[in-house]
Amino acid sequence: KKTIRDEEVSGKRVLVRVDFNVPMDLNGVIEDDTRIRACLPTIMYLIQHKARVILCSHLGRPHGKVDEHLRLKPVARRLSEILHKQVKPLMESIGAGVEHIVSEMQNGEIVLLENLRFYPGEETNDPGFSHDLSLLADIYVNDAFGASHRAHASIVGLAEYLPCVAGLLMEKEIEQLSSLFENPLRPFAAIMGGAKVADKIGILENIISKVDIVLIGGGMGATFLEGEGYGVGVSPVERNKMEMVKKIQQKAETLDVKIFLPKDLIVAEKLESSATVQVVSVDDIPGNQMIVDIGPLTIKEFTNELKKCKTVAWNGPMGVFEIPQFSNGTKSIATVLADLDATTVIGGGSTAEAVTQFGLTDHMTHVSTGGGASLQFLSGKTLPGIEVLAGFQ
Ligand code: 3PG
Repeated sequence: KKTIRDEEVSGKRVLVRVDFNVPMDLNGVIEDDTRIRACLPTIMYLIQHKARVILCSHLGRPHGKVDEHLRLKPVARRLSEILHKQVKPLMESIGAGVEHIVSEMQNGEIVLLENLRFYPGEETNDPGFSHDLSLLADIYVNDAFGASHRAHASIVGLAEYLPCVAGLLMEKEIEQLSSLFENPLRPFAAIMGGAKVADKIGILENIISKVDIVLIGGGMGATFLEGEGYGVGVSPVERNKMEMVKKIQQKAETLDVKIFLPKDLIVAEKLESSATVQVVSVDDIPGNQMIVDIGPLTIKEFTNELKKCKTVAWNGPMGVFEIPQFSNGTKSIATVLADLDATTVIGGGSTAEAVTQFGLTDHMTHVSTGGGASLQFLSGKTLPGIEVLAGFQ
């Protein structure tokens, strides 16, 4: 096993890939800084051991172009407040200007490179981009567990050019998730919700063979309901994933895994706190409304199922919990899990954010910083970012 503890970092330029993909509004206000705080052990270790710390991350999905709303400057500011230490935000990630700034860094100093996804080479895992990044450092540390399911330049490509080791968050996530998912007590439930349905639905196909029941709500719920032939009004739906929905349902049947979909829902005309909401049965969703939460009957059914479980993995909120009127489903599920005599693993930026918002973090067995990453881990599939870390396979 190789982590930063196994490397001599004093006086070295250490490039640390972190997952600072935090929820941020259009004014640059960070709504939840869990992912920033989660990297503190690695950052503090490196400062204490006199490294020159070069942090890098993605934020959002700018698809290879500069997006003024997705600059990392507010993140540097927040990190700086937490550390009581200057964290210098850079306007670029690679190039002569950045190389010069880095060459003048003193031991214990910290800079944060600009959003890596402003460069097309990040997502295409372009060796040229990895090489340019590698020029900034002597050692590469991957502490971005949450992004390690992406085979991107800063996650896998860099390992070709620099000695690479795991950060302390990466180490903790791998240790915790391995021990929690290795021999799970049963029944084992997966709760699936949230957005990023297209990404997560493929992983769900593998998860089916690991669990006993699956409870589906949130954005994922709308896609499954549409697949079952229900009208879902104007809810966003991944129409080209209907084949996958069928495949998952068939697989669940073969393996005797029960999938529960919402029986009733909260719908609204718009995603605003001023919207009028109503509870409707699943076969009665008005054509001009969208699903914003699961309904009371569904909460009751999900609660009954969860009370039988000994292990629960939850990824994705049950509704648009950021708006109080639409948060009841997510809050109810979080409360049930908090009281459960079971192993509870929360995965994903927004699910972790919800649990934090309800003050229930300490009542869960593990709150992972990874969404898609923790799901892929649970599914048993190797994560590209972990594969390149020597000794962690
Ligand atoms: C996440 O939020 O799950 C990670 O930061 C990865 O983001 P992505 O889904 O945009 O790759």
